[in-house]
Amino acid sequence: MTRVIRLPDPLSPNLAHLRASETIATSAEAKRRQAAGEDVLDLAVGEPDFDTPAPAAQAGILAIQRGYTRYPPNPGLLELRRAIAENLSRQSGGSREISPDSVIVSTGSKQALFNACFSLFGPKDRVLIPAPSWVSYPQIVHLSRAEPVMVPGATDWSLKVSAEDLERRTDKLVRGLILCSPCNPTGAVYTLSELKAIAGWARKHDAWIIADEIYRRIFFGAGSAPSFLDLPGDSLERTVIITGASKAYAMTGWRVGAAIAPAHLVKAMANLQSHVTSGANHPAQWAAVTAFSDPEVERQVQRMVEAFGRRRDRVVSRFRDEVPGIEFVEPHGAFYFFFRVDGIGPAPGQTGSGFCEELLRREAVALVPGAAFGDDRWVRLSYAVSDRELDAALDRILRFVQSFGD
Ligand SMILES: Cc1ncc(COP(=O)(O)O)c(C=O)c1O
Repeated sequence: MTRVIRLPDPLSPNLAHLRASETIATSAEAKRRQAAGEDVLDLAVGEPDFDTPAPAAQAGILAIQRGYTRYPPNPGLLELRRAIAENLSRQSGGSREISPDSVIVSTGSKQALFNACFSLFGPKDRVLIPAPSWVSYPQIVHLSRAEPVMVPGATDWSLKVSAEDLERRTDKLVRGLILCSPCNPTGAVYTLSELKAIAGWARKHDAWIIADEIYRRIFFGAGSAPSFLDLPGDSLERTVIITGASKAYAMTGWRVGAAIAPAHLVKAMANLQSHVTSGANHPAQWAAVTAFSDPEVERQVQRMVEAFGRRRDRVVSRFRDEVPGIEFVEPHGAFYFFFRVDGIGPAPGQTGSGFCEELLRREAVALVPGAAFGDDRWVRLSYAVSDRELDAALDRILRFVQSFGD
């Protein structure tokens, strides 16, 4: 008798390029080992270690108690769109008026990015992405059936790209750019004049800029990191600004993000979203109204950013003093430290993946290999952990690196 072997149904070609998020996978592995009782220090995390500021959390609780538990308005509460518009305008020193009509609220900034790419790009389009880049950009571009084109950043320039770098990779098929500043994974921040030059490149080629400014508020200079919103006279006709509550307000689990875009694009993204999620979680939107507008929350954010700044200084000075030959990107924002490992070890060509695997095995510290961001010569460390954990992890990491020099 012949046995019929049933093969699983093949999945759609829509998912042909899809890979699991390596940052989430690394962190999940560290958490699994912690749950099993191992003393693993997880510096692979991509979220603040602080609690959601109490006034915002209370606003969420109150919203549930008041019965805001039905469908929200699909593009977001007007109160929230207004709060985001005013908040961003304040961060730009009041120099730019932002209409609530140009704001659409989504389920995390991840959905805002997806909405923007899916609405703007399609087959045969190319989208430039500076590398190293956050894991999801190439995936989201692929899901939009466009082609991501990675543009390597310059090692002697904090792995940033210039307008000239973009120019060299531009052809007739290039329709857009996704730029992240402050950058995950490097912590590098584009200056206003660099943004201006990139805006000029985009204008010249009629390309869209999707500016992921989710970390804008976590900046170690004065105020907020420079933004495309700060460019005087720029009409932002072909610019989408991505923001959200996750990072600045320690609200990753609430899932509230937003895009600021020209009206016709907001309309298209709202239409798309109405068939996918029907808008972001309703009580979470009320929590976010408070997050984006409450002065007490703002004070707490300031303290959080100061704490990140102190930790940044600690990581930088310990690397400089204790392993002076190791190259790294000097971070000016976000909460990541990106260092180079290909020169560490008995033979040249150490990979980030090999380094992280061995570090986890020998010293029980989880970091993310640069392969996740498109360049496996590097490794990402997140300092969104307590000072005590950071110090203990640095002891182990630096001991591990020094062991190769013995
Ligand atoms: C650069 C960048 N953009 C977007 C996101 C997504 O944030 P969320 O969907 O939580 O708003 C993240 C999260 O790690 C990120 O690092």
